Amino acid sequence: MKRLFAISVVVVLPLAFAFGLAAGEKKEVSFPTDWRSYTHVKSMVIPDKNHGLYGFHHVYVNGKGLTTLKGGGSYPEGSIFIAVFYDVNTEKDGSVTQGKKLRYVYMRKDASAKETGDWEYAVFDADGRFVEKDPKKCYECHTGVKSSDFIFSTFIE
Ligand code: HEC
Repeated sequence: MKRLFAISVVVVLPLAFAFGLAAGEKKEVSFPTDWRSYTHVKSMVIPDKNHGLYGFHHVYVNGKGLTTLKGGGSYPEGSIFIAVFYDVNTEKDGSVTQGKKLRYVYMRKDASAKETGDWEYAVFDADGRFVEKDPKKCYECHTGVKSSDFIFSTFIE
């Protein structure tokens, strides 16, 4: 029994680990808890609830990505963009305000993410809990802006 246990630790665990990594999905992306210290890039509102990108969005970039965002070119390893989505509230006085937080979408430049253009894509819920990694639809849509290294936003002073 003891021997069986030893074999499973030596053989099965590393195998499971290797397969887990190969499958990709299992590896959680850690939430960038310091996102509030990033630079605000721009905001956008899509009020149509039926639109796939519905919400009040604020886009942020970390220090590593800021120079390229302003100057152009290919983003350095470790650049992070985060877009925070909120509900869109239309008030009686005609103003439009942000409601409760919906989720975060995230991109991190990672040379090992070959299948998704060297960017890791992830979604976190409103509390910053990991939801999913590299859903196909993210990369497919962002491919439309391959010429700006897959980043849609431009910096607004
Ligand atoms: C239908 C097209 C589309 C899909 C699908 C999509 N995005 Fe985006 N994404 C955009 C557009 C357009 C913007 C810029 C507008 C904005 O949010 O203000 C953007 C912005 C972003 C940004 C900020 C950096 C940038 O490119 O401006 C991140 C991070 C991001 N998306 C991650 C994701 C993730 C993760 C997914 C998948 C869960 C995803 N996106 C799916 C179109 C898309």
